[in-house]
Parts: sequence; structure tokens; C-alpha cells
Amino acid sequence: MANLLSLVDINKIYGKKVQTHVLKNINLEYEKAEFTSIIGQSGSGKSTLLNILGSLDRPTSGRVYAEGKDLTTLNDDALAIFRNQMMGFIFQFHYLLPEFSALENVLIPHWLDRGSAQAEKVTLAKELLERVGVSERMNNRSTDLSGGQQQRVAIARALINRPKIILADEPTGNLDSESATQVNGLMREINQEFKTTFIIVTHDNHIAAQCDRVVEIKDGMIVQDYPTAEKTKQENWENLAPCYCLQKEGLVEWKQSN
Ligand SMILES: Nc1ncnc2c1ncn2[C@@H]1O[C@H](COP(=O)(O)OP(=O)(O)O)[C@@H](O)[C@H]1O
Ligand SMILES: [Mg+2]
Repeated sequence: MANLLSLVDINKIYGKKVQTHVLKNINLEYEKAEFTSIIGQSGSGKSTLLNILGSLDRPTSGRVYAEGKDLTTLNDDALAIFRNQMMGFIFQFHYLLPEFSALENVLIPHWLDRGSAQAEKVTLAKELLERVGVSERMNNRSTDLSGGQQQRVAIARALINRPKIILADEPTGNLDSESATQVNGLMREINQEFKTTFIIVTHDNHIAAQCDRVVEIKDGMIVQDYPTAEKTKQENWENLAPCYCLQKEGLVEWKQSN
């Protein structure tokens, strides 16, 4: 059976006169219900990779397949329709529309898809806001919510079309550690309840170590791709430790608690 999502020999080059070769011969496969992270230093190509996985950007060469369908052959309109049905997105700066309520923000991907909100989608949006713990604020403007609440609304919004895949770019990068832990826990619960595949770009070792699989990118190349279950908690920390922020704190914390 075809993979849920796969990249074959992907290259991405920015610029014409001065060329930046950002992604180099990337091959990656994702399956249903995987909970995974992409890690790497700033500028290594994580966001570029996520944007190509999510068909928000096109590769310079190579193929992107979703359930066996070659997305690189679709025109922009067909691609947008496919993306909106199959994928949900969560960004570091949530991109909620400030003049709309939390409920309206959750319905936006549905409006893009269908033009108007059907009653059952409004019911679903309310259920999703309940599920992410902000239902009592559903009629508030998004700007009246805390950062953590806004990110919960963004998660509900990502779920409105029941996507098979959620792509998240530094989803907790702008949150305090307690909100980050809650948002991370919520993503995991959704992964288990709905069997949604998660691909989470993160700088945070706490998140990466809790994922089932870690993909590491360095200078536009995949240098590691492994299931965290293959290693002990300490090995995971030590493996992640040299490159990333928060590692010291985490490692010390881990050593103290063991
Ligand atoms: N639109 C663009 N045009 C030119 N260079 C870009 C563009 N987007 C990203 N880059 C470059 O590609 C490299 C990888 O960027 P990015 O994927 O954002 O890395 P990361 O998310 O890991 O920090 C960086 O050197 C960045 O400057
Ligand atoms: Mg980035």
C-alpha cells in the first residue's frame, strides 16, 4: 500500500543568480497515525521541508506523493483543494484572524473549502473547541485570548476538515513552558484519538524526545531518521543534546530525576 505521504529525491534551490541549495536529495516517508518530529539548527531547512511536505511550496526537483498520488503534477488550484482536505497546519505565530471570534477562526478552512458553514461543521467546530479546552471563549475575538488559548484554537482550526496529516512549524516556540507542555500533550491526544499523522518541526528536545520518530536535518540533508523507541530515554537525550537549545536544562533535569 502507498505511503500516506512521501518525498522522493527532493531538491529545493532558492534564487536564480545567487543560488541557495536548501534541500538536497531528500527522501522521506510518513504513515498513518505517526507522531514525528523534524529537528535541526536554525537555517538547516526545516521550514522549507515542512512547506514542501504540506504542498505550501513546490520543490525545484523531485516528487511529492500523497496516498500514491503525485502532487507535483497538480496545478495550483487542484493542489489547494487537495491540501485543504488532507492537511492541517499549525504555526508558531498561530495566524488567527484578529477581527474574528475563536469559533469563526476554527471554521475558516471549511469556508475556504465550501464557501459557507454547514450546520454540522459549526457543531463540529464547537466540539473541537470543547476538546481543546477553550469552548467558554468561543465567541471572544482571538486577540482577547492568551497565547496558549490562541494556539489551542489554531489546533482546533487545523482539525476542522478532519485532515489525515497535521504539519506544525515550531507550534510551541512562542509559548511559556507550561502552555507548551499542554499544547504538546493535546497534539499527542489528538494523534491517538483521531489517528492523525503529526509532523512537528521543533527546537525543543522535550517535544522531540516524546515523538515516536525523530528526523534530523543538517545543511539541507537528512542526517538521522529513527524511532525513539529504539533508544532509551537517556540515549534519546544524549543523541539530541549536542545541537539544540534547552538540551542542557533537559539533560540536567533527566539526570536529577534518575
Ligand atoms: N524564500 C527564500 N528565498 C531565499 N532563501 C530562503 C528562502 N526561504 C528560506 N531561505 C533560506 O533557506 C535556508 C533554510 O531556511 P529554513 O527552511 O527557513 O530553515 P529553518 O526553518 O531550519 O530555520 C536558510 O538559509 C534561509 O535563509
Ligand atoms: Mg523555520
